[in-house]
Amino acid sequence: MRIIPGGASSRPLFSPLVKVAAVAGAALAMAMAPAQAQETVKIGLILPMTGPFAPIGKQVEAGAKLYMQQNGSSVAGKKLELIVKDDGNVADTTRRLAQELVVNDKVAVLAGFGLTPLALATAPIATQAKVPMVVMAAATAIITEQSPFIVRTSFTLPQAAVSVADWALKNKVGKVVTLVSDYGPGIDAENSFKARYAAGGGAVGAELRVPLANPDFAPFLQRARDADPKAIFVFVPAGQSATFAKQFVERGIDKSGIKLIGPGDVTDDDVLDQMGDVMLGVQTVHHYSAAHPGAVNKKFVEAFMKANNMRPNFMGVGGYDGMHLIYAALTATKGATDGEGLLAAMRGQSWESPRGPMTIDPRTRDVVHNMYVRKVEKKDGHLYNIETDTIPMVKDPVKEAKK
Ligand code: PHB
Repeated sequence: MRIIPGGASSRPLFSPLVKVAAVAGAALAMAMAPAQAQETVKIGLILPMTGPFAPIGKQVEAGAKLYMQQNGSSVAGKKLELIVKDDGNVADTTRRLAQELVVNDKVAVLAGFGLTPLALATAPIATQAKVPMVVMAAATAIITEQSPFIVRTSFTLPQAAVSVADWALKNKVGKVVTLVSDYGPGIDAENSFKARYAAGGGAVGAELRVPLANPDFAPFLQRARDADPKAIFVFVPAGQSATFAKQFVERGIDKSGIKLIGPGDVTDDDVLDQMGDVMLGVQTVHHYSAAHPGAVNKKFVEAFMKANNMRPNFMGVGGYDGMHLIYAALTATKGATDGEGLLAAMRGQSWESPRGPMTIDPRTRDVVHNMYVRKVEKKDGHLYNIETDTIPMVKDPVKEAKK
């Protein structure tokens, strides 16, 4: 009789019959091993899939899913599972969903984040849980500073806004009025444009801020016009550019000789064609155009349009690149999913994105990429942002100024 060490009982641990069953069970488990050995790595993708900002969620989700479709859903021997959650653009919901994904689903990565307030609300969860948070859409500069676990594949508004100022100075545009959405990215865009433009001797006539929810641009456009500028610098978030363009035309500003300039959110590829010829000639600066030349983007745009029946915009490419970053990090860690290891692997990653070359700044965990000066033109009967100039590998100017 076997004595169980430290045990109170002297009865055998297993009866012979149970032992046989256990051995058989182990053999069965070994036989099944190839199918089961592949552990699953879960990624929680939280986005506004309903409500006025659903177009952002749809683009990011489509980009992320396309990357998985093209690259297979296994990385470093692990199976990837994407869990998509709709936060309806409510920050408390984003935070609650993130918590549930971490606690219940044990996700290795949190991703998505359609608008700035949604990313900011979730940052403390990433820090507490030590789970990487890949921001694929939101674009206020401070976001990456809210947690050491945040990495960004979208863009920052100051990256584009300072380049718009440089372009406007170079082209002697003259007096500019700024009109922005009244929250993080809009205020970033206004501040960065104004500071750079003023430093170069440019004049800003008025600074107008429009509420984010259900915006009525008409009274602000009237005030902009009254200031008699040569150009209006506009930032509206993806999802609002078509409404803006409609009211711009209704006010007759397109015929007033006042130019429309700004970061490329206002000539969003997703809706540019529907905005109509009134957008022809609008000059913007941004990191992504569906018309960006090169084989990588051509393949991306074709596959995206085929899978989704819509043109990818800068949000779609943010989702695609965010998924690339997750794959690259898992490959580097050989499938290990501890948050700190994944974060370390994400820092400094460089790759060829459909947008062009792209790097995750190892210091700031923020995106570094080209800014392109573009002009809306017609190509094959459709409106596109045609790139005319490149400002190479721009870092977030707000973080560079703090160095
Ligand atoms: C943001 O909320 O950070 C945001 C949303 C849409 C954009 C740009 C920034 O087009």
